[in-house]
Amino acid sequence: MNQAAIQFYDLHPQQSDLYHEVLTGLSKEQKHLPPKLFYDETGSKLFDRICEQEEYYPTRTEVGILEKYKNEIAKACGSDTLLLELGSGASKKVRLILESLRPNSYMGVDISKEFLISSTTKLAKDYPWLEVHATCADFCHGLNLDHCSDNSRKLAFFPGSSIGNFTPTEAHQFLTRLGKEIGDDGYLLIGVDLVKEQSVLNKAYNDQAGTTAEFNLNLLHRLNNELDADFNLSGFEHYAYYNKQKSRIEMHLRSLKEQTVSIANNEFHFQPGETIHTENSYKYSIDNFCSLASSAGFEQLNYWTDEKDYFSVQLYKRKL
Ligand code: AVI
Repeated sequence: MNQAAIQFYDLHPQQSDLYHEVLTGLSKEQKHLPPKLFYDETGSKLFDRICEQEEYYPTRTEVGILEKYKNEIAKACGSDTLLLELGSGASKKVRLILESLRPNSYMGVDISKEFLISSTTKLAKDYPWLEVHATCADFCHGLNLDHCSDNSRKLAFFPGSSIGNFTPTEAHQFLTRLGKEIGDDGYLLIGVDLVKEQSVLNKAYNDQAGTTAEFNLNLLHRLNNELDADFNLSGFEHYAYYNKQKSRIEMHLRSLKEQTVSIANNEFHFQPGETIHTENSYKYSIDNFCSLASSAGFEQLNYWTDEKDYFSVQLYKRKL
């Protein structure tokens, strides 16, 4: 049997300096750690489990929108495209729209090389008509698409409301750069989580099974393993709430007592109740996100939501 071939490019993304990032974040008055540190092997599996929780509506709602409107979305996106998936991971969601979109080619972009190669190879096997490319890169630091042989119009696909994990300023910078990379005729299809009742939001990040708590606490486990830190996991608790003023879920790890933690000869003191801020997840209204995208050079073409207006899939083109 023929092995499905992919065209692979390695842009050698810089691995972050974990030690430096952790020490800097924990030295701030409001201690914080970057959310990308969640995703070690265990963290990635825990995130997949979060997506299956009853309370965590974003994944299944976005999947429902893509399934229901795939033909309409495809029509609005147009034909003859190079479909770029940012942070493609297991390339699961793109499968929902591939047959309707029928792009000329697909390029998965992800920082995790082995995972990227295995999932794009599977995709190439399952869709023999599709030319599949894979680029190992940190999409936050630029894509550099010069290496790609397909010059078709670019359609960037950024599902999952990962844009919500950037601050609005970071999101603006990210979208501005992305716009330049996809070019004047480029389109952007993006999943954006919407503002809704606080109780729904609070439950989504405090699931009863404790999966989000495990995901959050796994960060400390990771620091113990990789940086030889001595966090006592039972000395911290998961704390997540909707900050209405800032329109974001904030996730923290809260110290249950006064304690000192050491990380390679550096000591960090915690007062009872003091927190490490580990993640923001911004929620937008359709209008607010449209204004943000507009300030970054994008014009909204259409958007699709579910019956409860919990989540949106929005389509943009570059403003000329
Ligand atoms: C990946 N990201 C969009 C998720 C979110 O909802 O902000 C990460 C997450 N954190 C806790 N639960 C899910």
